[in-house]
Amino acid sequence: MGRVFVAGSINMDVVATADRHPKVGETIAGKEVLYFPGGKGANQAVSAARLGARTTLIGRLGKDAFGAELKAFLSDQGIDLGYVQETAAAHSGTAIITVAEADNTIVVIPGSNALVGEDDVSVVPMLKGDVAVSQFEIPLSAIAAFFRRARAASAVTLLNPAPAQKFGRELLELVDILVLNETELGLLSGVALSESTDHAGIIAAARRLQANKDQIICVTLGKRGVLALAGSEELVVPGRVVEAIDTTGAGDCFVGALAAQLADGVALREALGFANIAASICVQRMGAGPSMPTADEVAAIL
Ligand code: RIB
Repeated sequence: MGRVFVAGSINMDVVATADRHPKVGETIAGKEVLYFPGGKGANQAVSAARLGARTTLIGRLGKDAFGAELKAFLSDQGIDLGYVQETAAAHSGTAIITVAEADNTIVVIPGSNALVGEDDVSVVPMLKGDVAVSQFEIPLSAIAAFFRRARAASAVTLLNPAPAQKFGRELLELVDILVLNETELGLLSGVALSESTDHAGIIAAARRLQANKDQIICVTLGKRGVLALAGSEELVVPGRVVEAIDTTGAGDCFVGALAAQLADGVALREALGFANIAASICVQRMGAGPSMPTADEVAAIL
């Protein structure tokens, strides 16, 4: 069984809940303020670890109270933190999140995440069969160095280009599996997509983005499920209707679950179905890191 290596962000999520989102310039009364471990990298690592994968996180924390809390939480999940450095040069990453009507807005202050560099990832001991995962809350140069190292070790590279930003062909060509939502796909492919775009339209956009014929592109569509372009094959995983409470971290749950399954040697179609169920459990709980399901919870639904 391979391992999952995640190079990515670690944040403390400061969450305000309210009955509705304020308009720009408006002040409204909220209900609660909650503190949850988060950050896309950490969330993906928690997801993979809770689902049974041997997981290593590569990242940076500040030497502050949030950093200490985040480290304790991640260590409790059984994640290897041997490549998480603490730095006095910046505060720990922090996300200010508003949750209302099961939807969120997020402002991320990168702090120490912005200091993850090529040196942080260049010593990671990956092997064939491992899965290397990253997202866009650490510098792109570090992600490219991480994936180059993964390629040299014949590990699989999986990129979740979130939060969405345009990036160069050189990084795209280092990616074996791209996992993104339809908004990110629209931005990166240059094709206008909306909630009503049909499967053919989404696959056409994915095809436009595909760097080579072997690259796998998985498009998460929320309650509409998942579409994947794997070479010339198209896979459809239907959505699961559940009552969402908080969608924060659902995409990260999907990515971590997919990585865990692929590291375990599961075929892509089954791995996507499993990850889809994991994400549908995650949205029924508050918070990002703590809402990731266990393998038993997913198995109970499968
Ligand atoms: O994807 C959800 C995550 O995005 C949150 O946990 C927050 O920290 C931001 O990074």
